[in-house]
Amino acid sequence: MKRVDPARKVSGRVALPGDKSISHRAALLGALSPDGITVHNFSDGADCASTLRCLGQAGAKVERRGNTLSVSAPTGLRSPEGALDAGNSGTTARTLCGLVSGRPGVRARITGDESLSRRPMQRVVTPLRSMGASIGGPSGGMRLPVEVTGGRLRGATHVMETASAQVKTAILLAGLGADEPTTVIEPLPTRNHTERMLAHLGVPLYIDGSAITIATSRPLKGGEWTIPGDFSSAAFWMVAAAILPDSCVTLPGTGINPTRTGLLRVLERMGLAYSIEQEGLKGGEPSATITVHSSHLRAAEIHPWEIPLMIDELPVLAVAATRAEGVTELRGAMELRFKECDRIVAVARALSKLGADITELEDGWRIAGPTRLGGGRVSSMGDHRVAMALAVAALAADAPVEIEGHECVEISYPGFFDALDSLAARSA
Ligand code: S3P
Repeated sequence: MKRVDPARKVSGRVALPGDKSISHRAALLGALSPDGITVHNFSDGADCASTLRCLGQAGAKVERRGNTLSVSAPTGLRSPEGALDAGNSGTTARTLCGLVSGRPGVRARITGDESLSRRPMQRVVTPLRSMGASIGGPSGGMRLPVEVTGGRLRGATHVMETASAQVKTAILLAGLGADEPTTVIEPLPTRNHTERMLAHLGVPLYIDGSAITIATSRPLKGGEWTIPGDFSSAAFWMVAAAILPDSCVTLPGTGINPTRTGLLRVLERMGLAYSIEQEGLKGGEPSATITVHSSHLRAAEIHPWEIPLMIDELPVLAVAATRAEGVTELRGAMELRFKECDRIVAVARALSKLGADITELEDGWRIAGPTRLGGGRVSSMGDHRVAMALAVAALAADAPVEIEGHECVEISYPGFFDALDSLAARSA
């Protein structure tokens, strides 16, 4: 349990952890490259450590010095000795299914922790099977554990039902090992880090509106670059600075890929006071210094197509909405029920306990504001994004908030509470 005291304001600069999604992908593509990929500012979260452990077990050469990571597979991948444990990481489990499916001769059992074992796997298993992948398991591939046997895959065209970058990535990784081109058609745009990284490594990709086509399996070229700071981690400080008075937080090196920054666009419509100074491209990904000031927030319309562009930021957007003038209605976010916990329930329960006017909807929330937030004991339900969103709510509350299960911040942001202590001003 962690007690977070109210803050008078937040101010300062934050060195963000490397982007988690980009870190996973750099490691996965390194494991398909004989020359290898070296990246600086690799995520220090437990989820990316799970990916590295699994790739190492499957024969990849993994070297880590601080936050510099090198992954290569000079002699290709092999069947691991034991099960590949993806821990709490959906990205690890789902993308490994795609990676292993397209590697003939590699056979792996993929497992996960209690939360991950409850999450749907069918969304990735069904398209991979249609390419000829052999995937089984006690639940028939609906849930972990799954057994994947790599083989020669056929190219296929997949019309995805769910907007999911994890599923898209799994299919593209499998497509790299298929005989013919593979096409993925997205219902709505999702984070495009895989496409950008493949293009950066010289893999031919054809993008035509919502259709992404990948051809053939040549060994991947190597490369070296720096991973930008994680926008999803920056989001907590952006909201904290916006909702506390006299605040100013600077976030250098933040990834600003437009398929990730939906929150910034929504907060801008809500009246966010901020500035942004472009820094250029790192490994095909744009980054910038973002500075956020205290803001007078007002409810704004949120479009369902924006949801995938800020899917991980919705818990902290809910916190911002409690402090905004008017009614914020967030719909089209049913996917939140399939994350590390049911985030619709977790956020509604915890924020209403702190005094927010929040109603749980089938696919989102209705939040009326501004409301004062009080103290109390709330549960993260073991979900890192919920824990950090509640810590931001606590900074703006009138009395201390105790957060149960705060340790899960390790999943994506081990330095979160240290950064919070260095930003929060508490004495008068
Ligand atoms: C991720 C995609 C998102 C996101 C997750 C990371 C990725 O999941 O919630 O934290 O790295 O591809 P979905 O694509 O399943 O929505």
